[in-house]
Amino acid sequence: MPSTVLVGTQWGDEGKGKITDLISRDFDYVVRFQGGNNAGHTVIHGDTKLALHLMPSGVVHPDAVPVIGNGVVVDPGVLVKEMALLEGEGISCDKLRISCDAHVIMPYHKALDGAEEKRLGTNQIGTTKRGIGPCYQDKAARRGIRMQDLLDEKIFRLKVETALAQKNPILSKIYGLQTYTVEEICEEYLPYARILRDHVWETAQLLSKALRQGKNILFEGAQGTMLDIDHGTYPYVTSSSCVAGGACTGAGVGPGEIGRVLGIQKAYVTRVGGGPFPTELKFAEDGGTGQDAADGETLCQEGHEYGVTTGRKRRCGWFDAVIARYAAQVNGLTHVALTKLDVLSAFDTIKVCVAYECDGKEYDYFPMQQSVLFHAKPVYEELPGWKGHDLSGVRDYMELPVNTRRYIEYLEELGGVPMSLISVGPDRDQTIIREDWLEAEADMAR
Ligand code: GDP
Ligand code: IMO
Ligand code: MG
Repeated sequence: MPSTVLVGTQWGDEGKGKITDLISRDFDYVVRFQGGNNAGHTVIHGDTKLALHLMPSGVVHPDAVPVIGNGVVVDPGVLVKEMALLEGEGISCDKLRISCDAHVIMPYHKALDGAEEKRLGTNQIGTTKRGIGPCYQDKAARRGIRMQDLLDEKIFRLKVETALAQKNPILSKIYGLQTYTVEEICEEYLPYARILRDHVWETAQLLSKALRQGKNILFEGAQGTMLDIDHGTYPYVTSSSCVAGGACTGAGVGPGEIGRVLGIQKAYVTRVGGGPFPTELKFAEDGGTGQDAADGETLCQEGHEYGVTTGRKRRCGWFDAVIARYAAQVNGLTHVALTKLDVLSAFDTIKVCVAYECDGKEYDYFPMQQSVLFHAKPVYEELPGWKGHDLSGVRDYMELPVNTRRYIEYLEELGGVPMSLISVGPDRDQTIIREDWLEAEADMAR
């Protein structure tokens, strides 16, 4: 089965960019299927650290065709800038294909994203303010503007005019914000159309043809399972389907085409923005104290946990096996890539959350009610660490310290999915590739 879906299993930033880059050399197509430039995927290309927001991470491999699927929301200004940046690094974007059905993020979406957050006050989601939610709202309300509309000036003007008749009163009367004219939007957006025109394609058809020809497709997820609109910690989520099933609707392929589902799991957990996070080790500035605050700070500093898109400090916490099991279930994970294991070399002992406790009841599964998740206290197992051992040069599983292997095998047992790739540094080659992955690769090639 030639296709693989790669998804985040936590609240994003698990290292999807690095693993996509590592494995995409084996694929003919690398496809983004949801989200937009709220994503920030880091890829190390030679000596350069690239932060990709819209472009599939496979773009750095000259043989892979990068595709932006219909499920993505596209800010054309951001895309044009990202293409120029990549070209400047000597990475060609000639092969990029963008779905004609992908929705376009408009200036009023960005304005509304900020305004709606402000209105929520202390309950705000902490969005990236890139206009993601408002754009998906218009898509679901059947009044969105798509890439194909952008290519036809007459249709684009008409659609913008219709949209503004609804948006301008909301902007001015509800939020007291500036309104937009058709002319100023056209002036900004039509030049993007001229640059992107040749890249806009019927991508579902393109991928269907590729599959018939036996080509390999990698679907690169953005965000993570716990940010999924249906399966995440609603309402503290993003507005798209981040789980593996989203690849089918967001790219236009049938579920039978998906062979492997690779979940990216960080060796600890981070979260950006608001919402419940049971294993959070609160920073001192957020009211945390004692060893927990110190451990949270160590994870943040050793792991360089600052947002790629917004620069925000990421909240940090111990590995949560409850959400790992849940992610295995809702995505149908066949393999896991464990990332940032090297960061844990800073600790004497390492905690793993095996269940939650709330009102005297123990939950070893993801609780049905939001309120339980908000009040859940983690039940921890504490494992001996491997402090002082630098893992970043290890390439062979058996060369890892015995306590590191025990940690990995314990997580495997809790999550029920083999950890086939172990990442010990940000570079592509700082990865331990285990036997079962190599066997799966060989099967795929047959
Ligand atoms: P993504 O959104 O899932 O692609 O992840 P981000 O790129 O937002 O964040 C992951 C960060 O960790 C990036 O700075 C990566 O370069 C870095 N990274 C990825 N894997 C590893 C690893 O195994 N070890 C270390 N130390 N850093 C890693
Ligand atoms: P990658 O792909 C981490 C979070 C935001 C906020 C919530 C909703 O790099 O893992 P949105 O702007 O999508 O409406 O914000 O989702 N969020 C992410 N957190 N990594 C991401 O992407 C994220 N994309 C969105 O912080 O809490
Ligand atoms: Mg990221």
